[in-house]
Amino acid sequence: MSRIHEALKKAEQERAASQGGPVPSNFSGAESPVTEPRVIDADTAARVAAVAPAVSAHASPGLPPFGSPFSLETMLARCAAVQWSPDPKTMLFLNGDDNARGSEEFRTLRSRLYQIREKMTLKKILVTSALPKEGKSFTAANLAQVMVRQHGRRVLLIDADLRGPRLHLMLGTSSAPGLSDYLQGANDEFSIMQRGALENLLLIPSGCEVSNPAELVANGRLKFLLQRVEPLFDWIIIDSPPAVPVSDASLLANSCDGVLMVVRSNATPVDMARKARQEFPDKVLVGVVLNGTSADTEAYSRYYYGAYEKRGTEAKA
Ligand SMILES: Nc1ncnc2c1ncn2[C@@H]1O[C@H](COP(=O)(O)OP(=O)(O)OP(=O)(O)O)[C@@H](O)[C@H]1O
Ligand SMILES: [Mg+2]
Repeated sequence: MSRIHEALKKAEQERAASQGGPVPSNFSGAESPVTEPRVIDADTAARVAAVAPAVSAHASPGLPPFGSPFSLETMLARCAAVQWSPDPKTMLFLNGDDNARGSEEFRTLRSRLYQIREKMTLKKILVTSALPKEGKSFTAANLAQVMVRQHGRRVLLIDADLRGPRLHLMLGTSSAPGLSDYLQGANDEFSIMQRGALENLLLIPSGCEVSNPAELVANGRLKFLLQRVEPLFDWIIIDSPPAVPVSDASLLANSCDGVLMVVRSNATPVDMARKARQEFPDKVLVGVVLNGTSADTEAYSRYYYGAYEKRGTEAKA
């Protein structure tokens, strides 16, 4: 019996025992049976070592304390099991082709992130870029998929682009209820989570359209949500709006451990990439993805590890 089935069975038993009573507080933390890749060169190690973790973990005023954790079983039983219909052209790990063009670059990106994680706290990654249509959602969705391809890894993918949400379209599912509903206090964390095409990949879609996205992502509830759910996941990947035109991404970064910047090949102006980096002066830039390179020049999407440093980095397009 798979772990997820065991978890569901246990949840059923818990529910039957409590007859709809309070959420059990028997949380014991996420399991990590997989050995992480351990390839790292000396130069990288030196740069990584210079970077300090940058996460604060304080509850916001007016929100309940963090004292009521819930178990994996509870989460899996209470989130929605949804049939996804992923776009086979862009969701590289959901189309049945293990060697889809671009998939190898996402495996490389995964290894690089594990290497960085050996040296700093890294679980919550904000995926952003300077401008619209550079491939943030494409990168976030495929990164989440490649992460769960490793046995036992559990990933939460969050669509925090409340202005132009795309993840639900790419994955072929509904956009609500989702993050905006939680941030407004209309839904709890379980009712906004979906599990669909892959056993260990959970999605929080964007939610209902809102008129005040920047205020919502800064109202403290996102941090609270992440505090509650992060022990249950190995990675949390957060998609965001473009960083230069609006402030949402820099506000979201306050709840993340690091920023992954997407640059679109032959499209992102260098000064815009630089400006985007400046939106996150205190955040670790964990990498830059050069997206949309043509098939006849090398790789489909490429990861530049050389850009990894805490501040003052200029993305190379
Ligand atoms: N490497 C790629 N190969 C093929 N299609 C891609 C690639 N990168 C992005 N796309 C497609 O380009 C479009 C824009 O990408 P995406 O939605 O990921 O950009 P974005 O930066 O998230 O845009 P926005 O700022 O509007 O949210 C989408 O239709 C996506 O599927
Ligand atoms: Mg997007």
